[in-house]
Amino acid sequence: MQHHLFRHIERPNPSYNVEDLPRKKFTKCSIVGLLLLFIVLGTVLGVAIILAFVTGLQKNGSAPVHLKNVSTDPFDESCLCGCSTIEPVFDNRTKGSGRIINGETVREHSWPWQMLLIIYDLHRQPLTFCGATLITDRHILTAAHCVHQFMPPFIFVFPGQHQLNMSISPSLGYPVTQVFIHERYNVLLQHDLAILTVDQPFRFDSHLRPICLATSKSPLLQTNDELIAIGWGRISAQPGANIYANDLQQVELSYISASHPNCSEIFQPIVGLHPGQMCAGRPKHNACYGDSGGPLMRKILSLHNDSYHWEQVGIASKTIDCGWNSTWPDIYINISYYYNWIMKTIEHTN
Ligand SMILES: *[C@@H]1O[C@H](CO)[C@@H](O)[C@H](O)[C@H]1NC(C)=O
Ligand SMILES: *[C@@H]1O[C@H](CO)[C@@H](O)[C@H](O)[C@H]1NC(C)=O
Ligand SMILES: *[C@@H]1O[C@H](CO)[C@@H](O)[C@H](O)[C@H]1NC(C)=O
Ligand SMILES: *[C@@H]1O[C@H](CO)[C@@H](O)[C@H](O)[C@H]1NC(C)=O
Ligand SMILES: *[C@@H]1O[C@H](CO)[C@@H](O)[C@H](O)[C@H]1NC(C)=O
Ligand SMILES: *[C@@H]1O[C@H](CO)[C@@H](O)[C@H](O)[C@H]1NC(C)=O
Ligand SMILES: *[C@@H]1O[C@H](CO)[C@@H](O)[C@H](O)[C@H]1NC(C)=O
Repeated sequence: MQHHLFRHIERPNPSYNVEDLPRKKFTKCSIVGLLLLFIVLGTVLGVAIILAFVTGLQKNGSAPVHLKNVSTDPFDESCLCGCSTIEPVFDNRTKGSGRIINGETVREHSWPWQMLLIIYDLHRQPLTFCGATLITDRHILTAAHCVHQFMPPFIFVFPGQHQLNMSISPSLGYPVTQVFIHERYNVLLQHDLAILTVDQPFRFDSHLRPICLATSKSPLLQTNDELIAIGWGRISAQPGANIYANDLQQVELSYISASHPNCSEIFQPIVGLHPGQMCAGRPKHNACYGDSGGPLMRKILSLHNDSYHWEQVGIASKTIDCGWNSTWPDIYINISYYYNWIMKTIEHTN
């Protein structure tokens, strides 16, 4: 079997189109090994520099702002997280029409925690985009690889978006003021998560609400558990076809355990699946380039009545080929695994 170097779930990027990089294969192990060593060294250095810079920025950061607790118990009258006023709808008629990869357009504003993250250049031109989720009234969760090359004041979040509008003016968004990248984020895209803050707390309404996070005590995912991924990423897995969704897309995926060959064989024998990573997918149904940083969610039913809420269990991190010529699942960051890190980071900004 051929092993492809994992490619990020990419964003369109006029100045640096990573998708044009040649595909690397782990066939000549010695050469590739050496290359990998260089890449690792380079990245470690790069990340160290960036982290140093981020830390510098944090020192000048905003005054302490009231911290809204991250809630994991939404079954109270106010439903603190994971409930949308406009319920999501799954309409199978559009299945197979080639969205997210083989997903469907969401009901507008039915995923009110989904945010569009756009990075701008010095001339306020958009460079790249990702997904992200609102987890408190001023904290946003995304993938580290979405932001690790970039700094405030070039990072903006746009809540309440249905369409992907890359020409949207940054003045209509919210500037991200602090970036916390996981300390051990690396070139293998392990620990691929970051927390962003905005200075002014968001006001929640039917178009903007936080999602609940899976905790370290959440029930373990079971094989074939139904999960939902959403994003504005590519809707065609065809290599080179840079076709992105206009409207936010959703797709139903299955959890695939690390011991299932479809998941474990992605990683062997180069490097094992890290416990902070997990697989989810369904043959011909994938996340793709541009969906990075967006949520993988499961529906939690109330034990008492027919109410439910949504819990974020993963963050879209990487894919092999978006299922173009394979049945590979995609790789997500395991939220439960990082729950304590997330809480600690949020408290740190209080
Ligand atoms: C978060 O909520 C828990 C339980 O409700 C409470 O013990 C804790 O102090 C809260 N943390 C903050 C920072 O408000
Ligand atoms: C469901 O039960 C919870 C208590 O467990 C209650 O707070 C909530 O209002 C109920 N929801 C509905 C729709 O009845
Ligand atoms: C829609 O798709 C879901 C999941 O694939 C399935 O469980 C459900 O039965 C389908 N509904 C209809 C009306 O086909
Ligand atoms: C994109 O946003 C700009 C404002 O920044 C607006 O003028 C334009 O109409 C928007 N395009 C779409 C398709 O919504
Ligand atoms: C695993 O991959 C095989 C083909 O290689 C495919 O037929 C099967 O549906 C996949 N299973 C899952 C759970 O994705
Ligand atoms: C798909 O994969 C098979 C074997 O894995 C390979 O022989 C074939 O050339 C691939 N097709 C495309 C279009 O990449
Ligand atoms: C995610 O992390 C939690 C906490 O470490 C662990 O119990 C769980 O098995 C992991 N889930 C997956 C799908 O790997």
